[in-house]
Amino acid sequence: MIRVAVLLSGRGSNFLAIDDAIRDGSLDAEIVCVISNRPEARGIELARERKHHAHIIDHREFKSRAEHEAEVLRILETARPDYIVLAGYMRLLSADFVARYPNRILNIHPSLLPAFPGIDAQAQAVAYGVKISGCTVHFVTEKVDAGPILVQRAVEVRDDDTGDTLAARILVEEHKAYVEALRKLRPLTPSSPLPASGARGPG
Ligand code: GRF
Repeated sequence: MIRVAVLLSGRGSNFLAIDDAIRDGSLDAEIVCVISNRPEARGIELARERKHHAHIIDHREFKSRAEHEAEVLRILETARPDYIVLAGYMRLLSADFVARYPNRILNIHPSLLPAFPGIDAQAQAVAYGVKISGCTVHFVTEKVDAGPILVQRAVEVRDDDTGDTLAARILVEEHKAYVEALRKLRPLTPSSPLPASGARGPG
């Protein structure tokens, strides 16, 4: 069973997909807290309805990114997640924040990275004219939309697609991809004790 914290800013459909998979027993995980930087996010309302530990940490109430992140980190330290899942979290994380959780923060991006990083990835894909796009679940590193990839799912781009119609079909695959990615992860184990001094290794 992995312990997961969810960070979101909006609709929360990826959070719901993960929560549904846990509830129906197809994902062995526990959501230990849900944090939104936006009070109006539908996702945080849903988290409350589902009786999760839901926290609003409005970034507009803090003087700096560092102070806002310090408050998010404070909650995470209490919740003790193995992994932090960014599910439509619309804030860039500082390098310091990422360094606190190396290979433990996941993000989902609505394109087949490394193609179309950044905002409006679905509209970028339509404008470019690619025939296949999709979504990517990756570990978060200092560089935006560039960390090691865990799962990708492809979606065909139709001739009459707009950014919105493509986004709707990619979203269906995002929900599967996030659950698939989380299934690959293992709980963190406390680091093994150091051998007693003078102890010899094998051989
Ligand atoms: C998704 O399209 C995701 O790829 C992007 O933000 C959107 C979040 O949607 N990072 P939701 O809030 O999970 O419904």
